[in-house]
Amino acid sequence: MIRFQVITLFPELLREFSSNGLMRRAVQDSIASVETIHLRDFAINNQGQVDDSPYGGGSGMVLRPEPAKKAICAAKANDPDARVVLLTPRGKPLKQSKLHELSQHCRDGKGLIFLCPRYEGVDERIAHSLVDDEISIGDYIVMGGELPAMIVIEGICRLLPGVLGNSESISEESFESDRLEYPQYTKPQDFEGSLVPEVLLSGNHAAIDQWRKQQAELDTWRRRPDLPEDPPKPAEEVSAALVHFPVVDKRGDTITSSITTIDLHDISRSAKTYGISRLYIVHPVRALRTLSEKINQHWAEGFGLEYNPNRTEALEILSIVPTLDDMILDIETRTGKLPELVTTSAKSSDVSSSIAEYRAALPFVERPQVLVFGTGWGLAPEVLERSDRHLEPLFGPTSYNHLSVRSAAAIMFDRLFAASKGG
Ligand SMILES: C[S@@+](CC[C@H](N)C(=O)[O-])C[C@H]1O[C@@H](n2cnc3c(N)ncnc32)[C@H](O)[C@@H]1O
Repeated sequence: MIRFQVITLFPELLREFSSNGLMRRAVQDSIASVETIHLRDFAINNQGQVDDSPYGGGSGMVLRPEPAKKAICAAKANDPDARVVLLTPRGKPLKQSKLHELSQHCRDGKGLIFLCPRYEGVDERIAHSLVDDEISIGDYIVMGGELPAMIVIEGICRLLPGVLGNSESISEESFESDRLEYPQYTKPQDFEGSLVPEVLLSGNHAAIDQWRKQQAELDTWRRRPDLPEDPPKPAEEVSAALVHFPVVDKRGDTITSSITTIDLHDISRSAKTYGISRLYIVHPVRALRTLSEKINQHWAEGFGLEYNPNRTEALEILSIVPTLDDMILDIETRTGKLPELVTTSAKSSDVSSSIAEYRAALPFVERPQVLVFGTGWGLAPEVLERSDRHLEPLFGPTSYNHLSVRSAAAIMFDRLFAASKGG
């Protein structure tokens, strides 16, 4: 039997918790026991004192180390291999993986001791010397450690064999992988005009499985884009464009900027790294387009190819076109769909989407995407007017954000397509 010992000033809360529902069944079936240790039994005086004011001043009271230590030692005497868990908002946020780790510890026949402070928490020296795990149940504050301890105990118990009727149901649940679970429906089929999705009534299990997988994917990206380990897979092709005309200069006048070979090389390598399918260089002057193509050829054949084949691979995604409309036509011809123009700027005006929103939206876009970057002082108003989505500017922790276009493109690709966990 797995022993949960809870050190608390409010043992009644735990009694109520373990005498209802599946927790009661787990206790009755001798799978687990929930015992309480009253902190007052280890008070420092006859008045039952267990806390004191904080050193350094400030409001509230702090659990003194002597009663906390004595209570932990009493619990350890009952179960020497038990792990000590302190519930604290300063702890590591609780995740399903932590519950699995703790349930494994319990399956090895070792229990858990929960220290549940109230008020301002416990003297830090206890956390340093006697505690194995500091757990937070989330970024908010409740009044004491009892509810957090109940959450941890219940989360562990449902992973123990024999507590839930159908252990298969666990493996598909939210947080068992890095996806949320699919939405669930039950009777009636028609609830106030809102119908159950037809596929669920079809009896076609392969189709139902596929629908559920798809919904889980969609809902995860919509609701919790921070969860997936892998980068978002755009539903449609994503290209990038480096525009030399029409762009503006310092004064806001429309100009044509010159092609810079370092931009071509750097942006095509970044684009290739992040899975951008084509990089369009938009320049109206034929002589400059021809020159750029010549430079490309140097890397595509002969000495350049021999010297640095990696660069050749990146430059293969480059297309040099006279106008934005030529680019749009090329994408439409290749994909059969009109692309959406996603414009970028260093300025914060007329933003229609944050970078995070766009990242979460990528798995659901219905048309090919083009990330449009401007040279000079940025894209001219006539390009921005054609934009389907205008992204917020890139910023670091300062208010300065005058990036070179090649740096901006690389950072934007990374914010949009890098794995969530920074891999
Ligand atoms: C009012 S809280 C103390 C908050 C503390 N002064 C702070 O700002 O971090 C009292 C106790 O409730 C428990 N508690 C409150 N919020 C919690 C959370 N999110 N996770 C785990 N325990 C929490 C802890 O045991 C904590 O010591």
